[in-house]
Amino acid sequence: MAWNRTLLDFSPRLCVAEKEVFAMMPIGPLMIEHRLIERMIHSMKKEVARMKAERKADPLFIETAVDFIKTYADQCHHGKEEDILFRELQKKRMSEDLKGTMNELVEEHRLGRKTTMELLEAKEKYQHGDREASLTMIACMEYLADFYPKHIEKEDKHFFMPVMRYFSREEKDAMLKEECEFDRQFVHKRYQEVVRRAENRFE
Ligand SMILES: [Fe+2]
Ligand SMILES: [Fe+2]
Repeated sequence: MAWNRTLLDFSPRLCVAEKEVFAMMPIGPLMIEHRLIERMIHSMKKEVARMKAERKADPLFIETAVDFIKTYADQCHHGKEEDILFRELQKKRMSEDLKGTMNELVEEHRLGRKTTMELLEAKEKYQHGDREASLTMIACMEYLADFYPKHIEKEDKHFFMPVMRYFSREEKDAMLKEECEFDRQFVHKRYQEVVRRAENRFE
């Protein structure tokens, strides 16, 4: 599938053979997306260090980080995990171990979502003059910077490959196709919602 191969070309950590395997599996795009999430988390860690040193927040950076986490990491990435891969896994008779891991992953997504909302609320308080809100912003960013790498490692190293054995070649192909379709529609759905909200302001 050309779409996946293009993305895989941007994953220098994978060898050619690995790229070939991942290009054919629904976990391929998810693992590639993990690499971009890691890069944003790395910048968030640096921003926390800067905030502590300069005792000053940068609301614009926070808005960018919140938008990335909400839109890319949660809606686009967790969206594909929960609405495609996990949905299909629920139809399978998984081992108790893997079932437990999947429940943990869903709960971690929920906590990540909640912390991101808290980060946004703190940013708004800060912009309204509440200087103490920067401490909440630091705490939320530190939580996310600690949470995401562990969550990603759990999926990459202990979940994605083991669950692939429950699916036939055809089932994997169907999921991969559904992921492509999810991504194809994603930006359109997102901006339809943006326009709907803009219109609602004047009703
Ligand atoms: Fe996840
Ligand atoms: Fe993930």
